[in-house]
Amino acid sequence: MRDSASGYSNGQRSLHWIMAILIFPMLVVGFVMVQQGLPRAVQNSMFVLHKNIGVVVLILAALRIALRLRRSPPPLSASLPAWQRRAVHASHGLLYVLILVMPLSGYIRVRAGGFPIEALDRLGLPTLVPRSDALANAAKLIHEVGAYAIAALLVLHIAAALQHALILRDGTWARIWPPVTRR
Ligand code: HEM
Ligand code: HEM
Repeated sequence: MRDSASGYSNGQRSLHWIMAILIFPMLVVGFVMVQQGLPRAVQNSMFVLHKNIGVVVLILAALRIALRLRRSPPPLSASLPAWQRRAVHASHGLLYVLILVMPLSGYIRVRAGGFPIEALDRLGLPTLVPRSDALANAAKLIHEVGAYAIAALLVLHIAAALQHALILRDGTWARIWPPVTRR
């Protein structure tokens, strides 16, 4: 286990990248599957994939937030100006909120709308929200606005990460890069 002064723990690093690999396709499939004119069979398959992988993201998000609450992030470089520190804290905080809000609002939208989540139904797990069109519509709106917000934040997040990795080369990348890499 790494100490928090030199980087994120192996668990935090692994979860960061596993979730990144899952969330990008979730965004692409989500935006594509709501388009008009897709063949019905393709659209149905995309919905099934989106809902069920989304539940995996929900479980991973809960685990990741629990890990984060138990262990503080490594301190930021002392040379970072105050406004950049605030930007890092705000954007990471918002990303944490959104990786929970996105799958949660998706779950509520589907369950309150009375639709299946195939893997959970197969496992016999109960529906945790009441059937309600008002609730389903509110969750749908949150899910849609959240999707644009997380997509925009990720553009900034990746741009900042690439700037640190390729231009500044200040060790930020090594803090989060998977544990297989030896620094
Ligand atoms: C869905 C995709 C992603 C999400 C939700 C996400 C979220 C996060 C969050 C919340 C943190 C802060 C961790 C903490 O303080 O506990 C973080 C750190 C980091 N992420 Fe991402 N990330 C994603 C994808 C990426 C990608 C694609 C890159 C690189 C191209 C990247 C590079 C980094 C780096 C370098 C850090 C460490 C920053 C630091 O130590 O201050 N992330 N990410
Ligand atoms: C990280 C997780 C998730 C991401 C990034 C994500 C992303 C998206 C995106 C981008 C859309 C299209 C939004 C629009 O323009 O209308 C969408 C729609 C949708 N998502 Fe998700 N989603 C996630 C999790 C879930 C989960 C867990 C479920 C259900 C179990 C779900 C169910 C839906 C449904 C039903 C729609 C269509 C909404 C409608 O038009 O009625 N999503 N999602």
